[in-house]
Amino acid sequence: MCGIVGYTGPQSAITPLIEGLRRLEYRGYDSAGIALGTPDRLYIEKRAGKLVNLENALGESLPEVHSGIGHTRWATHGGPTDRNAHPHVDNEGKLAVIHNGIIENYTQLRADLESRGHRFDSDTDTESVAHLLSDLRKKHGGDLSAAMREAVASLRGSFTLLAIHADQPEVIVGVRRNSPLVVGLGVGENFMASDVAAFIDYTKRAVELGQDEVVTISPSGISITNLDGAPLQPKEYAITWDSSAAQKGGFNHFMLKEIFEQPKAVADTLLGRLNDRNQIVLDELHLTKEDIQGLKKIVVLACGTAFHAGMLAKYAIEKWAKISVEVELASEFRYRDPLIDSNTLVIAISQSGETMDTLMALRHAKASGARILAVCNTNSSTIPRESDAVLYTHAGPEIAVASTKAFLTQVIAVYLIGLHLAQLRGVMSDLEVKSVFDEMVELPGKIEQILETVEPLRELTRGFAQSTSVLFLGRNVGFPVALEGALKLKELAYMHAEGFAGGELKHGPIALIEEGTPVIAILPVGHEHGLDEKMLSNVQEVKARGAKVIVIAQEGAEVTGAEHVIRIPIAPAIFQPILATVPLQVFAYEMAVTRGNDVDQPRNLAKSVTVE
Ligand code: G6P
Repeated sequence: MCGIVGYTGPQSAITPLIEGLRRLEYRGYDSAGIALGTPDRLYIEKRAGKLVNLENALGESLPEVHSGIGHTRWATHGGPTDRNAHPHVDNEGKLAVIHNGIIENYTQLRADLESRGHRFDSDTDTESVAHLLSDLRKKHGGDLSAAMREAVASLRGSFTLLAIHADQPEVIVGVRRNSPLVVGLGVGENFMASDVAAFIDYTKRAVELGQDEVVTISPSGISITNLDGAPLQPKEYAITWDSSAAQKGGFNHFMLKEIFEQPKAVADTLLGRLNDRNQIVLDELHLTKEDIQGLKKIVVLACGTAFHAGMLAKYAIEKWAKISVEVELASEFRYRDPLIDSNTLVIAISQSGETMDTLMALRHAKASGARILAVCNTNSSTIPRESDAVLYTHAGPEIAVASTKAFLTQVIAVYLIGLHLAQLRGVMSDLEVKSVFDEMVELPGKIEQILETVEPLRELTRGFAQSTSVLFLGRNVGFPVALEGALKLKELAYMHAEGFAGGELKHGPIALIEEGTPVIAILPVGHEHGLDEKMLSNVQEVKARGAKVIVIAQEGAEVTGAEHVIRIPIAPAIFQPILATVPLQVFAYEMAVTRGNDVDQPRNLAKSVTVE
């Protein structure tokens, strides 16, 4: 986690640095700081708390400087205080470092450096890199890039590092290992950042960096080397997101904007996916008929909201493609002995493409011979780069920490994979696939309908703002929806919330029901196993014990026992999660607003979790 940005060029650096940090605040927001490339001694300012605290501290009389680095933090080592905020500097105040990740061997490094006379000012793992670089730069006759190469060779862990030195302030050196870093190529100016969103207003040309690559930027150009100093050719790509996507566009919060962008996100993810021969087009999967025939099982790996998309993948792929699917939390996967081999297809789902737990699980699976397919929303991020194939969701940048549009597009993507596999395996005819696809194409319009009628739901939500606990019930594909509804509420409203499979209620969770406990039940209407009746029995069971029940049901479905019914448009059962999730997102959003919480940046969280 943490967001980092670097700028060198003709502009006053403070503007691109602060704008960049604002765009990256989703990555961490417990402190922020900058180092400006003033000659002799760097200008450093850093503050605990949100970026606005840093901005207030900067005041009016800033030096007119044309290079610098900036950081927004999600604390790992050392609490979120002014002194632990980045940048960290050497004892001469000439060299500054910012860091995203964890330096695992920092204790040893720090002890060595202290024994050589370095004085430490913080509790962070990062500060040792500033001192180490300071020594190595001297050893290399003032060459910061060479110092970085040697420093990195002795570091363990995951990191993106940027460094700047007052003697050559127009030069910024960066490196990445298991954490993201992209370079933005401008005209007479260059950028570095954790994410292209930081510099999207200035350039659409970006360069991706591989593992252990060291990049040096100045206003006149960039150079990339490996750790041995051998030059590497920059791999340039065009950024397709436009900057309006990274702004609120009239909404009070990014989350609300992103909820309302879902019809378009889903439509974009479906675009061009069925050809005129009624075949699902997923050419980027690079799976031949032979590959598919050899396939024994699929393992889906993901975290958080993406894990819930993974759960839905199981229902859809097993139903359509008749192949066994296991879904596992990425953070658990490599700590047992998973049975996977070259006949296993691993699907790694990640909005950011940088989640460390998912990345590590992916590597573990790869080492066991599995083929890896990434489902990702972020172009050229680490997870797709390390996968054999990638299916990009087209949600556009998701800024709010709580995932919404990325989730719906992940579900669409895994459903497309299910249909594609069904076709390749000859389990479904082209016409059957077409009729399912046609239903999917209707979804954006149906999401739109839900969004047009959310006002009563918002009002209803406000009435539950004093509740201490909310329970969510679902069955079959409604179960992951219940989990997602509960996760959203926890993340945003800081309320106790739990999702249960309806059938499990009687095995324990029903003991939680008290007079007035809100229970949200997702009614699985039209399911082939007639689950709606069973869910309605669950509704009666909790109602009889005092619960206030809200049922999410499709238009026309008979509902008994509920205090409130939220209607969603009619769709086949397998697609109902894509619709039923939307009111739950709005519920969590409204609850957070009513309770006065920071919707886009909930406490203790970060969007992209690049530590294990
Ligand atoms: C964090 C975020 C969640 C997200 C999860 C997985 O925990 O707060 O919203 O679902 O990471 O992120 P990914 O980028 O891998 O989808």
